[in-house]
Amino acid sequence: MPLSKPPLAEKLTRRIPASQRPDLAGVLIPEADLQRRIALMGRAIARDYAGKDVLVVSLLSGTVLFLADLLRRLPFPLRVDFLGVSSYGLGTESGNLVFNKELKLDVCGAHVLVVDDILDTGKTLRAVTEKITALKPASIRTCVLLDKKDRRVGSFEADYVGFRIPNLFVVGYGLDFAERYRNLPFVGVLKPEVYAPKPAPKPGPASARKSAA
Ligand code: PRP
Repeated sequence: MPLSKPPLAEKLTRRIPASQRPDLAGVLIPEADLQRRIALMGRAIARDYAGKDVLVVSLLSGTVLFLADLLRRLPFPLRVDFLGVSSYGLGTESGNLVFNKELKLDVCGAHVLVVDDILDTGKTLRAVTEKITALKPASIRTCVLLDKKDRRVGSFEADYVGFRIPNLFVVGYGLDFAERYRNLPFVGVLKPEVYAPKPAPKPGPASARKSAA
């Protein structure tokens, strides 16, 4: 049974913890909204997979918090494995895809549910589903917390989506910028000056005069 239409997260709230204020423009999805939605996703997944041999494949590292909360909402026997895949490096744009950890468990004949934090261009999930399909699972579906549909290159839809979000630079709840912010318990929006700092002004005549003085 499909999950009900994902809510659109679009309004920034002002509830930013004091310690994060310098870097964040706002909170896009507060902790309570995440937990409510994940409970619904868990119920839909539990209905769809009842009685099946389920293998949850989690993509490292962004799924760390989402996976932990989702798994607690799946009250049936299942196996969990991890696939290491990275596309962003330390920048903000999608780069080359690198697999840096392979699966340990046998996929053949299992009902695979791939879990990722965010569906952006779709490059990662497309490559991952192709790779797993070659291992002959009984079925394969995808589950993402966030869907930035405006950024998609080609067509790719996830089977379970938590929230559709606009094209903002989001961090927290597992999502990083340069490996930071993953520990925030909510999804926040990074200030542009953090990920795209303005270059220092070139020394002009005034500063040249000053240093000459
Ligand atoms: C991010 C994110 C998704 C992927 C989505 O991973 O976790 O896996 O990018 O982008 P795409 O749809 O454009 O392919 P990242 O490479 O940043 O690794 P991380 O999970 O370790 O942060």
